[in-house]
Amino acid sequence: MNYQHRAAFPADFLWGASTSAYQVEGAWNEDGKGPSVVDMLSHPEGTADFRVASDHYHRFEEDVALMAEMGLKAYRFSVAWSRVIPDGDGEVNPAGLDFYRRLIDALCRQGITPIVTLYHFDLPWALEQKGGWLNRDTVEAFVRYARLLLSEFGDKVPLWLTINEQNTMILHPGAIGVPPDRELPDKKALYQQNHHMMLAQAKVFALCHDAFKGLKIGPAINTTSMYAETCKPEDAIAAHNWETLRCWSFLDVAVHGRYNALAWAYLQDRGIAPAMLPGDAGILQQGKPDFVAINYYSTATIAASRGDGNDVSPRAGDQQIMLGEAGVYRPAENPWVGKTPYGWVVDPVGLRLTLRKVCERYGLPILITENGMGAPDKLEQDGTINDDYRIAFLEAHIRQMQLAISDGVDLMGYCPWAAIDVVSTHQGYAKRYGFIYVDRGEDDLKALSRIRKRSFWWYKDVIAKNGNSE
Ligand code: BG6
Repeated sequence: MNYQHRAAFPADFLWGASTSAYQVEGAWNEDGKGPSVVDMLSHPEGTADFRVASDHYHRFEEDVALMAEMGLKAYRFSVAWSRVIPDGDGEVNPAGLDFYRRLIDALCRQGITPIVTLYHFDLPWALEQKGGWLNRDTVEAFVRYARLLLSEFGDKVPLWLTINEQNTMILHPGAIGVPPDRELPDKKALYQQNHHMMLAQAKVFALCHDAFKGLKIGPAINTTSMYAETCKPEDAIAAHNWETLRCWSFLDVAVHGRYNALAWAYLQDRGIAPAMLPGDAGILQQGKPDFVAINYYSTATIAASRGDGNDVSPRAGDQQIMLGEAGVYRPAENPWVGKTPYGWVVDPVGLRLTLRKVCERYGLPILITENGMGAPDKLEQDGTINDDYRIAFLEAHIRQMQLAISDGVDLMGYCPWAAIDVVSTHQGYAKRYGFIYVDRGEDDLKALSRIRKRSFWWYKDVIAKNGNSE
């Protein structure tokens, strides 16, 4: 639809930015922190690891001051589970809690609303050694961990996210990384893990509402709308297949408390449906989120499976590269969209479409918890970083958000990835997303000094005008 009057952003719109603990903090083994699965990954020669990352653990005060200067209304970050409970389920580490208390206090002093993700890919290694999410005991460990954080920080943190991109962990386990001595779990095991995460999430939704009145909590799924390559009906079915399996099957359980019918039929047909104990259906029903968070980077284009064995892409996948699955879908090219230097589709209109779909399906407020452009930013001789491509990317997405609000979408806020440069999930430090540049290389930590990029000034201006362009 075209509008004669574009809706304005709400006055309390949360202009924010995001990071995750293991990608920004560093201090991987300091002050009693236990190792997590990501600490055990090997990294290709010449690619940054997560040990120092952006050294936010030691420099958070400087970082929060820069966020305040940018005018951020919200900062979405995650807590490293193994920093506060080193083995995931045993003793609490007071120094770990203290770090997050100081960070949250610093944000609150600046009037920045903290938004906390409980778990962003970094399962405590001790839990992984006991079977990780395949072990049902991890459900109770997560609930206990969530209770600890909600009771410690619930008075200052109004918005909570349970699990970051559960669908990425299940559908692209290799994108997050696997320790060198391990093999990727098979699909049956992955969907059992998925079921346990769903139970854990539902229990934490219920806990939050029962014991911590007034706090709001939601899931955060990597949400990617699918286009059919042509108007051939079989292409439309394939696009629907993959959109359902990749996105809605995760959000439907989170919001409606039951498995999506198409997804369940697929899982049963392939013999990979999870084992459900009596009572599990009731647990899923118990917990309901207050809002839906989405991480939106791109759309994908899909064609019907040819069934000739060539559906699966030979290219190594990451979370935004669709791999194909025999009998389900085949990835296709879209001539109408661009790509980032890392091959991710750039599609701002797709954000509007995705917001409409989430709004129609779930009828809940939506928070965008990630969106951004990874690029190899260049620090110029004169000390500037001229990331005009990132400004163009974000600006185009913000205009589509505004149209989505005009469409009737209840959009709470926008937290692009990333507040500051962080280590990419698997492409080191060359692939940057931040508004704030961190002066380090892959191996060479340099001074780790912070430098405002051109996008920093641009975003400051966007926030000052509450997103309204001239
Ligand atoms: C999201 C993750 O999928 O994408 C983040 O939640 C990640 O952790 C972001 O960093 C960007 O991906 P990448 O692979 O470019 O770091």
